[in-house]
Amino acid sequence: MKNDMARILFTEEQILEKVRDLGVRLTEDYKGKSPIFLGVLKGSFVFLADLMRQVGVSCQVEFMAVSSYGSGTNTTGAVRITKDLNTDIEGRHVVIVEDILDSGLTLHYLLRYLKGMNPASVRICTLLDKPERRRAAVDAAYTGFQIPDAFVVGYGLDYAERYRNLPYIGILKPEIYEECDA
Ligand code: IMP
Repeated sequence: MKNDMARILFTEEQILEKVRDLGVRLTEDYKGKSPIFLGVLKGSFVFLADLMRQVGVSCQVEFMAVSSYGSGTNTTGAVRITKDLNTDIEGRHVVIVEDILDSGLTLHYLLRYLKGMNPASVRICTLLDKPERRRAAVDAAYTGFQIPDAFVVGYGLDYAERYRNLPYIGILKPEIYEECDA
């Protein structure tokens, strides 16, 4: 799989160091608040699993699944909830945990949806952010790394459901997705 990478962006060690920093900040900010960490499936599952273990406050984990992509690399703009929340978040502090903030369309939609349930607060924690690609105004309170406009895989992020198991994050060679999208 390493041969499919144009470049490794972040090694396993660099990612874990960043996740530790985010965990320290969340622990400080959510003391006494018992937050709900809401993972957006599937991409966030690796990040969420590592992040939770760096958070030293009592917390709850929930998942939602939202689809905005087919198997290609460009968003269709349409967001659809494919797995809804099955817990009451009214009056609770919610931290949405995302793998990557790209166009922002997914999180823009999700934020509006969750705010309708009257939580005490909703914030976003994203491992990666591609600010150049933003189409909807969304800001993350917690961001791991800002990255350039390139399609990345690994550490939970996929291309056509592959590469999620890579322990590092890499830029996929364009010819890999050009072949499949053709
Ligand atoms: P947004 O709605 O455009 O912000 O898209 C967010 C979702 O698109 C993420 O949760 C990912 O599933 C997917 N995505 C965006 N960019 C990438 C990428 O570079 N690699 C893999 N998935 C991506």
